[in-house]
Amino acid sequence: MDDSPIARRKNEHVALALGQGAGFQSTRTLLDQVQLIHDPLPELSLEQVDTSVQLFGRSLRFPLVIAAMTGGSSQTGEINKQLASIAQERGYGFGLGSQRAMLAAPSLADSYRVRDVAPDVLLLGNIGVNQARDLPTTAVRKLVDEVGADAMCVHMNPAQEVVQPEGDHDFRGAIGTFARLVQELGCPVIAKETGCGVSLSAARRLRAAGVMHIDVSGAGGTSWVAIEAMRAQGTQQQVGELLREWGIPTAASLAMVRKARVETIIATGGISTGLDIARAIALGASVAGIARPVLQALSRDGRGGAVALLEAIEAQLRATMLLVGASNLRQLASTPRIIGPDLERWMASGPAEF
Ligand SMILES: Cc1cc2nc3c(=O)[nH]c(=O)nc-3n(C[C@H](O)[C@H](O)[C@H](O)COP(=O)(O)O)c2cc1C
Repeated sequence: MDDSPIARRKNEHVALALGQGAGFQSTRTLLDQVQLIHDPLPELSLEQVDTSVQLFGRSLRFPLVIAAMTGGSSQTGEINKQLASIAQERGYGFGLGSQRAMLAAPSLADSYRVRDVAPDVLLLGNIGVNQARDLPTTAVRKLVDEVGADAMCVHMNPAQEVVQPEGDHDFRGAIGTFARLVQELGCPVIAKETGCGVSLSAARRLRAAGVMHIDVSGAGGTSWVAIEAMRAQGTQQQVGELLREWGIPTAASLAMVRKARVETIIATGGISTGLDIARAIALGASVAGIARPVLQALSRDGRGGAVALLEAIEAQLRATMLLVGASNLRQLASTPRIIGPDLERWMASGPAEF
């Protein structure tokens, strides 16, 4: 299973993502610029705090998706199974990595099949918009059906592609692809970035194409430009090193996408604590997504390590909700917040004026 070039690339991506060099260094999520206001009289018990949410027809016990990472080799198939079973046990959503490998080699499909260990999770399929553009909708639908996904993430990753040695360089036709899939796919379509964020202009174009669900996957966590720069050579490597900090901080992207009035915003990109999740929800996210920190915990300390990280994050969100007096996520979403100047500047950004 692991001899194909795609399988090798998938294993390489996971290995590089686990290293120090895969994170943004100076670009922050700017979620620290969102101050929530303390309530000394919450009139709640901690046990009463309800973190449940409905999304795409599934009930989540906690507003978190273990975000799209992998599949396409036996090693990464094992990672999918482990993480999906944690999501099942704890009531999170689970995102598969790009299913492109399944198209190239149907024998790799098994590495994406997690329904045996995660029958009830909110399961998100995944394909690049460039691949989807070049496929009939029936082929994309087959990817959804073969894994039993509830919704399909269609990822936009131009920054990664331009630095990736095997990357695509032609990004024309993306909006038309989204419009077609929204019309024809027969399940929710989530437009998802992979760590560089979604701008207001892009969110408006997606919305005009009928897209109602966006995962901002903003900057501040994993830098795919940095990861690909480690694999690239020559000019491409130089471009990658120059642009390793490129992207819209997660909090800034959330604030922008909110203006486009879509139904669902998923806040992925540099989320590492329950306080981050609370801040993201206060900025308009329905749920948050975490990718690399969970993978790192799994790789370092096994399943128990990943669960311990997630338990801590749950306790942090619950405590934060109590301390703002929010007994559920709807109340958290409307809790007052103070925005710091760095985030304010992004929120005020508009078309250039001369
Ligand atoms: C090892 C790894 C593989 C990834 N593969 C995909 C992918 O196939 N499709 C996708 O949409 N995003 C992919 N991502 C991006 C994540 O879903 C997420 O948007 C990004 O890593 C930011 O979240 P983080 O800072 O919590 O890692 C991948 C991330 C990691 C760490």
